[in-house]
Amino acid sequence: MSNGQDFSHVDALAFLNLKGELKSKLLSAHAAVKKNLPFVARIAIALYDPQTKILKTYLHSSGVDNPLEHYQTLIDNAPSLKEILEKGKPRVVNNMLTFEDSDKKHIRRLGRQGYAASYTMPMFNNGDFFGFLFFNSYEKEVFTEKTLEELDLHGHLISLMLINELSTVQTLSAAIKTTSHMTHHRDPETGSHLDRMSRYSRLIAEVLADKYALDDDYIEQIFMFSPLHDIGKIAIPDYILLKGGKLTDDEMDIMRTHSQKGKEIIDELLGNFGMENMAHANVLRNIAAYHHETINGTGYPEGRSGQDIPLEARIVAVADIFDALTSERPYKKAWSNDDAFEALMQMSGEKLDQDCVDALLSHREEVEAIQRQFKESLFG
Ligand code: C2E
Ligand code: SIN
Ligand code: SIN
Ligand code: SIN
Ligand code: FE
Ligand code: FE
Repeated sequence: MSNGQDFSHVDALAFLNLKGELKSKLLSAHAAVKKNLPFVARIAIALYDPQTKILKTYLHSSGVDNPLEHYQTLIDNAPSLKEILEKGKPRVVNNMLTFEDSDKKHIRRLGRQGYAASYTMPMFNNGDFFGFLFFNSYEKEVFTEKTLEELDLHGHLISLMLINELSTVQTLSAAIKTTSHMTHHRDPETGSHLDRMSRYSRLIAEVLADKYALDDDYIEQIFMFSPLHDIGKIAIPDYILLKGGKLTDDEMDIMRTHSQKGKEIIDELLGNFGMENMAHANVLRNIAAYHHETINGTGYPEGRSGQDIPLEARIVAVADIFDALTSERPYKKAWSNDDAFEALMQMSGEKLDQDCVDALLSHREEVEAIQRQFKESLFG
């Protein structure tokens, strides 16, 4: 202090300097908002997909009792949100009772949770609408003009944080798409295998979401990254990869290197894009590396067992095996769903995670809907 310097001020937004997951940054942003605006009880983000016109819950800062997780709707079915989008302006509701009569599921749920006021900002990236940011309060009449001036600054910072994260993910997923197209030029596994298994994976994650406190962002990652589980097959020679019959033991040993190879390829891909440390990297890496580990520790490449196998890999293992069994392969016929379910039951607790198997088996209708939607065709 002698030379007039003072380092005692604590920067309330210092979390923005740090490397970290979006979820933890949102929690920090919420803490920063609460410093001056303690009545803001929840910040939530819903993302919009312009192609499908679907609005989806994405991240939130509330506790486990979040009223609106894993929810999606067509924007046309949310007229008051659509109005915000069309006006391109944020909306203040200072007394949620205004909405009490609504028959819309998400409004009733928010109501039940006891929120009394909300401030909803549409988010834009270079003029393109990409989602909504919600600030909720249990108290009425809190979103005054003075309050909103400060909230707007926070809102735009959060929006920039999101744009940054989403564009990284988009770059990664473009890189991945190219890479996986290259793989599937050689892999006898078809595109519809990947369509189905990624949806079985998402279904399992959705069913387990409450029990394991999984958020929407994680579930979306499972869906996005599960088609890459076999990316390591790029490294397997054709005479093995494309063999019509049973593999010999030696050939199988080579085949089994595909999961370790997959991990290396993903690490290289992430390294080349400067994304080794992004939050999503681990989910992707774990799926490629560990989808052939088994609960009893007899799998490969590391012989991990039980909970040491990351959840995303345990989920993908069930989805992959179920679809491998019910599909025709150059080396095998397609099994019936009954036989495949029976086989999964046999493996449950031994090779496959019991919760993951139960999740799939208890949703047979959804499984069969996925099969009807993504039938094998001449074009894969
Ligand atoms: P994949 O075809 O995607 O099969 C994934 C996993 O599904 C297999 O992992 C295995 O756990 C299960 N699976 C597939 N078909 C059967 C089956 O007929 N019976 C049983 N009980 N389980 C089945 P796994 O065994 O580690 O094999 C990894 C990959 O190695 C397979 O991926 C496939 O590409 C290749 N592969 C395995 N066995 C053979 C084979 O006999 N001939 C050929 N050409 N490829 C094979
Ligand atoms: C969420 O709760 O996951 C975010 C979106 C919302 O509440 O509408
Ligand atoms: C709607 O579904 O129309 C409105 C949802 C909201 O305002 O939170
Ligand atoms: C499919 O793999 O396309 C359908 C399998 C089945 O219906 O059993
Ligand atoms: Fe595999
Ligand atoms: Fe597979």
